[in-house]
Amino acid sequence: MKLKSQVPQSGFLLALRFLALVLWSFPGARTLDNGLAMTPTMGWLHWERFMCNTDCQEEPDSCISEKLFMQMAELMESDGWKDVGYEYLCIDDCWMAPKRDSKGRLQADPKRFPSGIRGLADYVHSKGLKLGIYADVGNKTCAGFPGSFGHYDIDAKTFADWGVDLLKFDGCYCDSMEHLEKGYKHMSLALNRTGRSIVYSCEWPLYMWPFRKPNYTEIRQYCNHWRNFEDVYDSWQSVKSILAWTSSNQKSIVDVAGPGGWNDPDMLVIGNFGLSWDQQVTQMALWAIMAAPLLMSNDLRHISPQAKALLQNKDVIAINQDPLGKQGYRLRKEDNIEVWERPLSDLAWAVAMVNLQEIGGPRFHTISIASLGQGLACIPDCMITQLLPEKKELGFYQWTSDLKTKINPTGTVLLQLAAT
Ligand code: GLA
Repeated sequence: MKLKSQVPQSGFLLALRFLALVLWSFPGARTLDNGLAMTPTMGWLHWERFMCNTDCQEEPDSCISEKLFMQMAELMESDGWKDVGYEYLCIDDCWMAPKRDSKGRLQADPKRFPSGIRGLADYVHSKGLKLGIYADVGNKTCAGFPGSFGHYDIDAKTFADWGVDLLKFDGCYCDSMEHLEKGYKHMSLALNRTGRSIVYSCEWPLYMWPFRKPNYTEIRQYCNHWRNFEDVYDSWQSVKSILAWTSSNQKSIVDVAGPGGWNDPDMLVIGNFGLSWDQQVTQMALWAIMAAPLLMSNDLRHISPQAKALLQNKDVIAINQDPLGKQGYRLRKEDNIEVWERPLSDLAWAVAMVNLQEIGGPRFHTISIASLGQGLACIPDCMITQLLPEKKELGFYQWTSDLKTKINPTGTVLLQLAAT
């Protein structure tokens, strides 16, 4: 720890700070103009944990039914989730009846959703939460339920009539790239025309990448967030592959993110079975650095106090939700340690160091402060706080100093550097 320097700031340093402020405040690409998702969406989404379980006879507590969502809504309100920002309770695939109704509208499976989506939305709203739903741009959803192709307008209207607040629009069963692109655009406009505020969550780039590079500037004009890469699984392998994809494509995807439009690396699987404690810390820290939507997929009825505290960590959530809305990026990878950083408002920075070496014990890593934040993170000094794996005030550091940290295998140390 270094003592705070008493040297007054020179005009040059003040000018540098001003320049940084101007550069980082420069507005990004044009965004979908629905006024939503000014910070990344936070909530809960059923898919990774509950998948397509429709057997309520055998598994009444984990099948996709209104009961499941009502229980989650209750817990989101009573267990502090809503208070820290988790607001959208989202239904994924497998909520539908196998056929549309006589008027061509989608309908919920009547046995599993006896109150209908309208009834569920009322309940969710009564808890001060918002309801998300799922549909597909193609002929069928990925699990084989009715797709929205040819029904975009009526589906948008149905969702608005029901009081839905978010639509996850999947991209399975599309005949062509043209169908995919036109469909995503059509649904965006149809949702806007309903006059209801509905967050629009897309998977457009994920389905486009195998054929051609997506035009992110355009996607941002239609979607509030967009999936780029494969589905998250409850495993370190999966979280690691999402991080690897993101860093190797950061030149194409980081700059396009900002208030109103975000890259979506998929759900948080913290609180489930597959990730060690350190790996859960890594997912939380890196989802904050990536300005990712924080959509948990877990069972809020059975979650360890440790996982709950991590997901409800206000300091880390504040980084994720930072109003400047700049996505972070991988700064370097050396000897299996990755350093990521993200510019924050008030000239602060978040820095994450991930130890990707899966053999051996905790490793020490020393960073030179001057290498962070394009040289501007700590001029002439700054206050550094470690936020994860646990909170620790590290004190004042100078631009010229080094910082030594200890990182567990597959774990992350998350720091916040605040201007003084
Ligand atoms: C796709 C999506 C997942 C989930 C499933 C549902 O795989 O990427 O997030 O919605 O479909 O079938």
